[in-house]
Amino acid sequence: MYIREEIIDEIREKNDIVDVVSGYIKLTRHGANYFGLCPFHTEKSPSFSVSQSKQMFKCFGCGKGGNVFSFVSEYENITFPEAVKLLGEKVGVTIATEDQGEDKKKEYSLRARLIALNKEAATYYYKVLRDENVGKTGMDYFIKRGLSKEIMQKFGLGYAPVKSGLIKKLRDQGYTDEEMIASGIAVHNEKYGMSEKFWNRVIFPIMDARNRVLGFGGRVMGDGKPKYLNSPETVIFEKRKNLYGLNIARNAHKDHLIICEGYMDVIAMHQAGFDQAVASLGTALTIEHVRLISRMVKKVLLIYDSDNAGVTAALRAIPLCRQAGLACKVVDLSPCKDPDEFIGAHGAEEFQKRLDNAKNSVYFELDIKMRQFDLKDPDGESAFSKEVAMVIARMEDELERESYVKALSQRYNIPPQSLKREAMKLVAKNEGIELPEEMRTGMSSRRQEKEDALLTAQRYLLTALVDDPRIFPKVSDHVSPNDFEEGIVRDVAGVLFGQLKNGQANPAAIVDMYYESYDRDTVSRLFSSKYSGTMEGVDYENFISDLIVKIVGNRAASENTGDETEESDPIAGARLKADKRKDLKNLHIKL
Ligand code: CTP
Ligand code: MN
Repeated sequence: MYIREEIIDEIREKNDIVDVVSGYIKLTRHGANYFGLCPFHTEKSPSFSVSQSKQMFKCFGCGKGGNVFSFVSEYENITFPEAVKLLGEKVGVTIATEDQGEDKKKEYSLRARLIALNKEAATYYYKVLRDENVGKTGMDYFIKRGLSKEIMQKFGLGYAPVKSGLIKKLRDQGYTDEEMIASGIAVHNEKYGMSEKFWNRVIFPIMDARNRVLGFGGRVMGDGKPKYLNSPETVIFEKRKNLYGLNIARNAHKDHLIICEGYMDVIAMHQAGFDQAVASLGTALTIEHVRLISRMVKKVLLIYDSDNAGVTAALRAIPLCRQAGLACKVVDLSPCKDPDEFIGAHGAEEFQKRLDNAKNSVYFELDIKMRQFDLKDPDGESAFSKEVAMVIARMEDELERESYVKALSQRYNIPPQSLKREAMKLVAKNEGIELPEEMRTGMSSRRQEKEDALLTAQRYLLTALVDDPRIFPKVSDHVSPNDFEEGIVRDVAGVLFGQLKNGQANPAAIVDMYYESYDRDTVSRLFSSKYSGTMEGVDYENFISDLIVKIVGNRAASENTGDETEESDPIAGARLKADKRKDLKNLHIKL
């Protein structure tokens, strides 16, 4: 969907960010800003702030920030255009799509078409399963696996028969072959033409949190291969962002979610009353998955197969969960393979006991690590101690660290003092703490926050310009956008200077120039620095002057080309440079 810029501006201006965010979380006014508990990470005291004047939000805890559109799109897990549309509807602005931007328009209408097409396909499979003749094989299979009619309905289960008429049906409804191919329900082949992807398989429609069908999984009803066929990634189906069963589990109202591997596992658990279960769709858990989850609950139970692959999957999932602020535990179902099998064999009550006995993820990780070391050997023992210390060093919360020092020293028989010492050493050195790439580029970590003083000064100045536009004429006498760090900072400065020249800063509009949520966080940071200057009086003037000196001083220091005197006469050149610096030193802005 391509939406005209003026419309985006209008919708943004009509939706006050404080009102909109208040609809989702409780905000309390504190001076010029509003504060609340951040919905994007776990916290006990509010570091999530909303600024009415800037029409932006910013979390000083996890670094997330943006404007009203990015808030809604992140919170609801919808795309930017969808957020614009949603907020537009709220204030009665209808969205006319632009004639230019054909590609984007096409993409949008393709998305809408595929969602509608998938719904038709899901309805078709659903009806076939319930047809007493054509659907019998599928129905018998599900019944044999212990599913009730009710649960089949809840998950919209279906059946693709051997001779399916779906393509014909969709053609009759006006869908093109290209659309069917784009949706993944059909494939085209030189020799045979169009054929359906799923046939003679029971069908699991995959829905998003808003019950839209994104794709399908299809299982053979015997030992055929592949056991499961899944829709490919399409313009509407991104496996790394969706979880099977979440549309139901999000309404479970439990304090945790269960994450498992399989379609049948989710369904078996729901049928047994564990409607807080979801599955990642035949892919490893991603940071997007856990962030989505962390907005709903703060605890997860991981259930992976007890084989090597399952253990590896759990070991990968644990740090991701932790990074998103999710407390996590690992459930052991051995000797059973998976929840479906366990519940079938032992029932819901025994299953609940296994959930109750889930192992703390820290113990889980370290118990496995321990097996790699020879603890009878002093070298092995100290190497393992170091691993334990590393786990503690990674914990951001001091209380958590304290309690784990105690618990882990007991569990692994390491003196608490030396464990603590080792951990503190690692923290101080900021070293050896290897985080997966995904986490380093994902949510902010303390280390990532560290920037050099120059960039900090640039951020402070941009924030000050937005907070107090009257300084702009003075600032722009000395500083130009080119003085800012190349890349996003300079681009943002350029646009902001332009806005201020024309009369008014509109930081929330600048956020919309960036598509990636990571970039929007960065932009928000530029406008939400916590600086300590007071707004009135000498302190503030000094503060701004110092910022200018720092920023321009950097330019003066790096400038030596084009300065002919310097080349021909080094002494004169040096003197000139010193003069420049002195000039700067005397710079004092009067407001
Ligand atoms: N999977 C897949 N493609 C396969 C095998 C598995 O997409 N060829 C995914 C499916 O989402 C499946 C999950 O991985 O549900 C777990 O696989 P597996 O443990 O092999 O299957 P089960 O879920 O136990 O399925 P069933 O009980 O029906 O055998
Ligand atoms: Mn199974």
